[in-house]
Amino acid sequence: MTSDPDYDVVVVGAGVTGLTVANRLRAAGRSVIVLEARDRVGGRLLTDTLDGVRLEVGGQWVSPDQTSLLALLAELGLETYSRYREGESVYIGLDGVRCTFAGEKFPVSERTANEMDRLTVILDKLAAEMDPLEPWNHPDADRLDRVSFAAWLAEETDDAEARDNIGLYIGPAMLTKPAHSFSALSAVLMAASAGGFSHLVDADFILDRRVVGGLQRVPLALASRLPAGTVRLGEAVTKVEWDADGATVFTGQGGYRGRNVVMAVPPTLVSRVQYVPALPPVQAQMRQHISFGLVIKLHITYATPFWRELGLSGTAFSPYALVHEAYDNTNEDVEGETRGTLVGFVSDVKADGLLALDAASRRERVLESLAAYYGPEALSPVHYYESPWMADEWTVGAFGTSFDIGSLTRYGRHLRSDVGPLAFASSDIAGLGFQHVDGAIRMGEAVAARLLS
Ligand code: FDA
Repeated sequence: MTSDPDYDVVVVGAGVTGLTVANRLRAAGRSVIVLEARDRVGGRLLTDTLDGVRLEVGGQWVSPDQTSLLALLAELGLETYSRYREGESVYIGLDGVRCTFAGEKFPVSERTANEMDRLTVILDKLAAEMDPLEPWNHPDADRLDRVSFAAWLAEETDDAEARDNIGLYIGPAMLTKPAHSFSALSAVLMAASAGGFSHLVDADFILDRRVVGGLQRVPLALASRLPAGTVRLGEAVTKVEWDADGATVFTGQGGYRGRNVVMAVPPTLVSRVQYVPALPPVQAQMRQHISFGLVIKLHITYATPFWRELGLSGTAFSPYALVHEAYDNTNEDVEGETRGTLVGFVSDVKADGLLALDAASRRERVLESLAAYYGPEALSPVHYYESPWMADEWTVGAFGTSFDIGSLTRYGRHLRSDVGPLAFASSDIAGLGFQHVDGAIRMGEAVAARLLS
């Protein structure tokens, strides 16, 4: 096809990545259209009020290392507030005993604590040696990519509780996959992308702040800065015809021709679209080795934040509990809010088990798990909600995507390669800010800069 382009750039996907690309190109005077399958913008960011409770259904936290997100928040005039963290945290260890503690160090035996500290130093060193944009160039990349994170931990220590806790920070809590299913190199990438493994261990750092009014205000504000009609909702892209001069992107409503196309969708969803001609073999192969993790984000609201009266911060961890981590997620920015909300997570194989149950049984199991942390009052919420990302056809998992063992070194370098007029971008292929909104902004800005040059 050789017709003149309708637009300089057609952007597919109105998540933070796609909207960042569109804003940066528009600001430079380029003509842009954004095609979004859903009837809303924001992708994996959704701030919704359900039965009178405002919930962060998707992403919500901002940490100090996320400098691109912090800069964008300042640019958009959006304010943040600190997550509630007064009081003691709860930990349930390998022996099943519940303990409360202050600070970051879990109340484990001295030996386990020493092993956790030692592993943290090793992982920090490995992360410091890695450029998260090029993990395949890590000096020990080949070896680390051939071994699962679980096997690597087993090589490093015979302390099961230390392994389970260190595994938790990157497995269930970040990549949301079992530690035996991704490589040690992917684990180091997760740490390097957040500025070091120590940051992932420190909930006060990694889950530092929330955005007043909710994090979805970021994509909503980005969309509102674009001229009316730029973002077209309800337009799922099904086919892209491309040649050396440009590409035509097809939705149920017709075709849109652009000199360039940016596929600002998760790498797994790139393959759902038909390409004519087909993408080069390495692109098609690569995307069969990336998959979404699985985590159920739980929102449980109570008449009051009763745990605060018990001297608890709401922060709770256990690699052995169904809900492996939970936090006070009360909306401090809602005037007159008297209710208290906990947010909790059930990940990977535990999520498989939970999803096999009916809704009433799932709720019962989750509340029992919370009661083990906070006591019997946790059994009586006024509102209970499970974020449904794994069943949402325009995401199909949470939080993000990662490679299987051996594939980061084999395919990673092709993730950000253009194919003719087609560019690919998403938080899932970011270096710094990998799998986070910060990475979405970084990827959006990088692709826009490349197209402008
Ligand atoms: P995203 O997936 O958001 O956007 C892609 C867009 O493309 C979607 O709108 C989709 O509908 C659209 N699309 C897909 N296929 C299409 C097609 N064929 N045609 C048209 N449109 C198509 N991050 C963080 O920084 N702090 C946090 O606390 C959290 N927590 C968190 C919790 C949960 C439950 C989730 C699911 C995620 C997070 N995250 C997070 C991650 C963060 O939300 C995520 O990294 C970014 O929002 C991703 O932005 P992108 O624009 O890259 O993809």
